Amino acid sequence: MNPIDVGILGATGMVGQQFIALLAKHPWFRVKWVGASQRSEGKDYRDACAWRLPAPLPDRTAALRVDAAVPDRAPQLVFSGLDSSVAGEIEQAFAQSGRIIVSNSRNYRMVKTVPLLIPEVNGDHLGLLDAQGTAQGWPGRIITNPNCAAIVLAMALAPLRQFGLSKATITTLQAISGAGYPGVASWDILANVIPHIGGGEEEKLETETRKILGRLRNGAIDDHSVVISATTTRVPVHNGHTGSISVALEQKPDPDAIIDAWNSFKGVPQLKELPSAPAQPIVYLHEPNRPQPALDAGRDGGMTVTIGRLRACPVLDFKFVALGHNTIRGAAGAAILNAELMKEQGLL
Ligand SMILES: NC(=O)c1ccc[n+]([C@@H]2O[C@H](COP(=O)([O-])OP(=O)(O)OC[C@H]3O[C@@H](n4cnc5c(N)ncnc54)[C@H](OP(=O)(O)O)[C@@H]3O)[C@@H](O)[C@H]2O)c1
Repeated sequence: MNPIDVGILGATGMVGQQFIALLAKHPWFRVKWVGASQRSEGKDYRDACAWRLPAPLPDRTAALRVDAAVPDRAPQLVFSGLDSSVAGEIEQAFAQSGRIIVSNSRNYRMVKTVPLLIPEVNGDHLGLLDAQGTAQGWPGRIITNPNCAAIVLAMALAPLRQFGLSKATITTLQAISGAGYPGVASWDILANVIPHIGGGEEEKLETETRKILGRLRNGAIDDHSVVISATTTRVPVHNGHTGSISVALEQKPDPDAIIDAWNSFKGVPQLKELPSAPAQPIVYLHEPNRPQPALDAGRDGGMTVTIGRLRACPVLDFKFVALGHNTIRGAAGAAILNAELMKEQGLL
């Protein structure tokens, strides 16, 4: 099969770099175009970008000339890792030019006809795309992946819906790569914890998760009824968002049934063996000191959510710790899996 040409908006940022690393040897997609701000426009990618990943910058991408963030020369399929302050307008212009945008930014996630997708959890939400063109007045399409902490929470909660999931609380410990580059000043984050993340992070966890876990009915999403309370903090960790989570489950299941629900959880990406699909999307570890970002964030290429420490909660019913790689499962890897699902369903 000939590879499909793809573009990356915001290619010079943390998420943009992760797109380039993950697509370097992708069997279906080939990076043909990169776009960023006026600061980068006209430079070779290698000069425009402060490459911060341990994987080498692929030569082919290093030599690409960074284009303006306008659709003229962009291919049909464009991944977006744009700063949210500009993503709204730019992604709209790309959709108006007929492009398919697979976005990481928050701007369109809660729009009624925009899928907020985790392929293992709610792949059927792609059904919203039928109505998107007319509702939004553009010939293209926008598909989004969740906030990087919401994706960890939603994956951990998805297998618990069968037990009557009614309430959840989460306190996160989020990595510095989640704030982009250069991100939080070293003076502020070293040996410290910052108990606030701007941009409505807590609200995103509380609202996006309900949409993700909701059901597609008559062309619209019925949000899941779970009530969520979130506190988000930034910690001096490179990669990996950790969440300390408590849940109320109406059916009061056995702990073994919960662990089994997590370990056996699978979806279309696993059944169809999509290129970026982890063999097991959720892995439960029994060791009392896991999961840890340094040891577990990179599990199965960073696409697996690792859970541990399931125990009784004296306030709700159960509590546990969940961890996911924020720039892979929480961003670029998630978007690539979304595009793979679209291709598998004949939507590209
Ligand atoms: N980091 C994570 O873990 C994570 C996870 C999920 C979602 N997200 C979301 O993904 C997006 C990117 O995050 P990030 O961490 O990669 O941020 P980042 O490192 O700050 O990168 C931002 C990118 O946006 C580009 N940009 C900024 N202003 C622009 C403009 N006026 N016109 C065109 N391009 C412009 C930058 O280009 P220049 O280099 O030219 O300035 C850069 O490529 C954000 O919306 C973020 O909320 C991030």
